[in-house]
Amino acid sequence: MTADTSTVDTSGLRSDVVPLQVRDVSVRFGALSALSHVSFTVEPGSIHAIIGPNGAGKSTMFNVMSGVYPATEGEVRFGDRVLTSMQPYQIAELGIARTFQNIALSDSQTVAENLMLGRHHLTRAGFVSSGLRLPRATREGRRHGERVREIADFMELGDKLETPVGVLSYGDQKRVEVARALATEPTVLLLDEPVAGMNTEETRRVAASVLEIRSALGISVILVEHDMGMVMGIADRVTVLDFGRLIADGTPAEVQSDPEVIRAYLGSGDEDDGDHTGGEQAAEADHEAGAGTGAGSPGGRP
Ligand SMILES: Nc1ncnc2c1ncn2[C@@H]1O[C@H](COP(=O)(O)OP(=O)(O)O)[C@@H](O)[C@H]1O
Ligand SMILES: [Mg+2]
Repeated sequence: MTADTSTVDTSGLRSDVVPLQVRDVSVRFGALSALSHVSFTVEPGSIHAIIGPNGAGKSTMFNVMSGVYPATEGEVRFGDRVLTSMQPYQIAELGIARTFQNIALSDSQTVAENLMLGRHHLTRAGFVSSGLRLPRATREGRRHGERVREIADFMELGDKLETPVGVLSYGDQKRVEVARALATEPTVLLLDEPVAGMNTEETRRVAASVLEIRSALGISVILVEHDMGMVMGIADRVTVLDFGRLIADGTPAEVQSDPEVIRAYLGSGDEDDGDHTGGEQAAEADHEAGAGTGAGSPGGRP
């Protein structure tokens, strides 16, 4: 189990953040190849984007990394651990936290309660002593409460801690998802389309938060985005998928000028001019939410 990482090494170098290696991963659903022999490495402490048109296999990649889907072939390693032979809860305990493309929060519970759920695996006292209000449980509860407040402030949700999640705006709910993943004190944060459906200003705020998360915590952030625009400004490295195949892997500048990437984006029928903006992305996100890939299934949540 990961220790409380609230004391952060400001040099940004942490021994518990190790490379995450995807090696020759394939996922087949019957005749459909959702992923075909995909390999890439997420360097410790980097912001690594996985982009590609709808149906490219991005959410499937996250589902393999977090143990929700088995890989048909290949493996994912986190340091010397083989994630592809582990259960979702074991992967979560290693410090790999994720959000879902479709919001998966507990609507009737407050922001604070949703964030506290993310910390349950970090509480030593457990349910029994909490119920009896033993001194250790009370002390721990205070410590976790403080951390939850810190994380909420960081995600600009400090004034909404006692608000039931269900009544928050869509943009706020998306930020609660990121905050809940952060509340688990992750070493790797997987964000599946964190700005889908957001306007330009909300998108800018989330992009700034992602940069801050990396610099303040020194963790790796893997960002799935349908849209190129948002990731180009913040990603250290970009992996591009198309129809389950890796078609490019490099710096934002390298992939942006890659002819196959340009072709995949222009040929996807999503845009006329290839200029992906927040508003158009919103329409696509709505469309995709209706398609129900199963990525939002609460059953897969650790
Ligand atoms: N559980 C599943 N069963 C069958 N097909 C699936 C499942 N999950 C994803 N797929 C299919 O795999 C392909 C990749 O999907 P996905 O990873 O969700 O794409 P992206 O996130 O890049 O839009 C799509 O054709 C999708 O329909
Ligand atoms: Mg997806």
